[in-house]
Amino acid sequence: MRNSLGFGLGLRPPHYTQIVETRPEVGWFEITSENFMVPGGRPLHWLDRIRSDYPIAMHGVSLSIGGTDPLDQQHLAGLQGLQRRVQPAWISDHLCWTGVAGGNLHDLLPLPYNEAVLAHVVDRVRRVQDRLGSRILLENVSSYVSYPSSQLTEWDFLAEVAQRADCLILLDVNNIYVSSVNHGFDPLVYLDAIPVARVRQIHLAGHQRRDDGLIVDTHDAPIAEPVWRLYEHARRRFGDVATMIERDENIPALAELLKELDRARSIAASVDAESLAAVSSQAA
Ligand SMILES: [Fe+2]
Repeated sequence: MRNSLGFGLGLRPPHYTQIVETRPEVGWFEITSENFMVPGGRPLHWLDRIRSDYPIAMHGVSLSIGGTDPLDQQHLAGLQGLQRRVQPAWISDHLCWTGVAGGNLHDLLPLPYNEAVLAHVVDRVRRVQDRLGSRILLENVSSYVSYPSSQLTEWDFLAEVAQRADCLILLDVNNIYVSSVNHGFDPLVYLDAIPVARVRQIHLAGHQRRDDGLIVDTHDAPIAEPVWRLYEHARRRFGDVATMIERDENIPALAELLKELDRARSIAASVDAESLAAVSSQAA
């Protein structure tokens, strides 16, 4: 069994006071790194207070690991500064690109999945890991387009990046579901292709289904039933992996998110009990 932090939540400003005052039963919080890469001020004040009670994971949105611009040294220095302050459990970002020629599109754009891009990403991951002195986690993004130059599936590409760069994986189960519907693949095939030992964290989130059938990864709604079912499968395959809920829009009361987190806990508990029963019956 790996050393998991259990069940966490994204740290969001509307909940700061309540978290400090009531210390809810949450294993850890994930922060959006860029929101705290500022000198001083209220965000860091709250972060320091919450960090004294909880482990923190740093999750970034602008590393642009697949981009063709040189790695942003100023951004890496900011990450390092925050890393020193927070002593995070881990640092993650996305397997994507976010802009070109110095521009940031503020979107997590999918990459073409082929050997040339693979070598490019692996080289950049290694350089980031050398700079930060630790392995990073890369998250699969949701996508709505694909490229004619792709020669690998997304799941094989992600697995290859992790193996060749010796990095870890943040598996977003909602993103897998969203992309499976939009691109028409089987999400179970995706999960089953991901190397178990590389997965350090799982994301759960809500999405919106549009009238034209496309699903958009909005993080503004409760987790959908098919995503819960996929999480059950993920728990069965990956075991005790730190799991958290991302909510970025329509942020509800903390109690509501804690209730959703309880559902994740109970799915995990029943999967674990099932696995234990299977092992015991084999041993009998
Ligand atoms: Fe995510």
